[in-house]
Amino acid sequence: MPGAGPLGVAVVGCGVISDAYLHNLTSFPDLRVLFCADIDLDRAKAQADKHGVPAAGSPAQALEHPGVELVVNLTVPAAHAEVATAALRAGKHVWNEKPLTTAVGAARELLATAAEAGLRVGCAPDTVLGAGLQSARRLIASGAIGTPLTALTLLQGPGPEAWHPSPEFLFATGAGPLFDLGPYYLSWLATLFGPASRVTAVSRRSRDTRVIGSGPRAGTEFGVEVPTYVSALAEYESGQAASLLFSWDSPLSRQGFVEITGTEATLALPDPNRFDGDLRLRRAGDEEWTVVPAAGTTAGRGLGVLDMARTLRSGHPHRASGELALHVLELMTAIDSAAASGGCAAATGRTRRCRWWPPRSPPPCR
Ligand SMILES: NC(=O)c1ccc[n+]([C@@H]2O[C@H](COP(=O)([O-])OP(=O)(O)OC[C@H]3O[C@@H](n4cnc5c(N)ncnc54)[C@H](O)[C@@H]3O)[C@@H](O)[C@H]2O)c1
Repeated sequence: MPGAGPLGVAVVGCGVISDAYLHNLTSFPDLRVLFCADIDLDRAKAQADKHGVPAAGSPAQALEHPGVELVVNLTVPAAHAEVATAALRAGKHVWNEKPLTTAVGAARELLATAAEAGLRVGCAPDTVLGAGLQSARRLIASGAIGTPLTALTLLQGPGPEAWHPSPEFLFATGAGPLFDLGPYYLSWLATLFGPASRVTAVSRRSRDTRVIGSGPRAGTEFGVEVPTYVSALAEYESGQAASLLFSWDSPLSRQGFVEITGTEATLALPDPNRFDGDLRLRRAGDEEWTVVPAAGTTAGRGLGVLDMARTLRSGHPHRASGELALHVLELMTAIDSAAASGGCAAATGRTRRCRWWPPRSPPPCR
């Protein structure tokens, strides 16, 4: 039975992204952030003090808190499965940062554990709920581009080691540009096209080591475990095809490029790492783009947690779901395998019921 009142939340993992989450989560009336936890207790305490959260401590202490109903897991990818599984075993719902886990098997186990316990798993990116993508859904559903045929996405830049003070995890298994930033682009395409069926890819790693560029350990060299350039082609079950580029091997930065081409027009979407941003439409024969303002929520990171809180209380399904994140992880893993083997890979052995596709109608503009 759904409970009542604001949902009690613990944030586990108080690193770089926790500021954006805590700023928003502590402002949503549907939530009460009760606990900040980290294996680094000083960090947990500092974030609790900064954001007015009443208690801080270890992850185990967060799970013992009787008021905590949902754990927001903002740890590094290698810890996602362990932290989320412990939360489920303690009877808490889970919101995970992306990727859901570093391996498909662990992600499937996680969702099975949740299903057995009657608990929910949600997963970033919650930009799928934002104004940009929801406006694109409405436009495409209205027939503005005709029948959607193809997608083109581009993410390239020098890599995050220049600005992230602990960037090692971003170059370890479970990250790299494909697994770290791919979820934004691939979740948007999955929301528009549905599940992917087949992929092929090539990948490269330009350097074996990189150097931390900011923070107290600036100048420290660390190893690169994963490809830092991935170029992929994907086929979707609904018939569309996509060309995808994810690179941290480029001095030139260009990101947030997502175009959907249909029989009548091309639609340029805003950056899938953001909640806001206008769309642009170019019909056959147009000399210029027509700007289409995005309409909808731009509340920012934590919107998926808010959606979980509201839907847990109302009994409806939440939208940035663990199942969608599992498909995206399967797809990224297939791209990685195809690049490693030089062949094609099935994106998913989808025999299970797909609970996130077809999606509910996009919410009307407010
Ligand atoms: N930094 C960003 O801009 C950004 C943006 C979007 C999403 N994310 C995602 O958020 C997650 C965290 O990224 P970050 O940049 O904040 O990393 P970070 O390294 O700055 O912080 C991670 C925190 O998790 C803690 N931690 C590690 N293992 C733990 C465990 N087992 N139990 C409890 N705490 C543990 C670390 O001590 C650290 O404080 C990643 O999944 C990342 O992909 C980051």
